[in-house]
Amino acid sequence: MHFRPASAADTTFVRELSTEAFAPFGDYRDLLPRWTAVPGVSTWVAVERAPCGFVMVGFYFGDPGRTWVYADLLAIAVSPACRGRGMGRRLLRHAVEVAQTARTSFDVRELRLTVADSNERALHLFATEGFLVSEENHGRYDGGQLALRMHRPL
Ligand SMILES: CC(C)(COP(=O)(O)OP(=O)(O)OC[C@H]1O[C@@H](n2cnc3c(N)ncnc32)[C@H](O)[C@@H]1OP(=O)(O)O)[C@@H](O)C(=O)NCCC(=O)NCCS
Repeated sequence: MHFRPASAADTTFVRELSTEAFAPFGDYRDLLPRWTAVPGVSTWVAVERAPCGFVMVGFYFGDPGRTWVYADLLAIAVSPACRGRGMGRRLLRHAVEVAQTARTSFDVRELRLTVADSNERALHLFATEGFLVSEENHGRYDGGQLALRMHRPL
């Protein structure tokens, strides 16, 4: 298994996996593929024989004076056939590395993410990789789930 930056050729893979993986939370099939083309958003694909997951990290200023930056895990998803084999954890660790690498250019202080309160698998993964809940009510997903905000210092 290896990671590579997503290219335009991965648009269909990202769209199809986003449609399946995030269906309980809302309609992300067009939003996530569009994000892959946004400057400042870094998308990585995990490849075994074929693409089997992706992770997307955006970078945002943390204050109006633009003195520091936080990374935001915009999406992480593993294809159904590849789940439960450690792929999600490896993708998450790769996202942490991507955010840490950006510290050579910017004062990137933490990695943040948003997750549904009912998403037990993802919550377990994030908690065991050092993420803490920073906001217990970050609004609701279109699917009605409560959104939690989590963060992990870098
Ligand atoms: C969340 C997701 C990325 C995890 O990927 P994965 O490859 O299945 O995860 P891993 O195999 O690395 O397992 C991660 C942990 O979850 C645990 N886990 C698996 N199924 C679980 C379940 N039903 N409930 C709770 N924990 C579960 C695993 O045991 C593992 O923990 P462990 O190492 O302590 O045993 C994947 O399930 C997915 O794509 N889900 C749909 C999209 C999604 O919800 N993304 C997150 C939105 S913020």
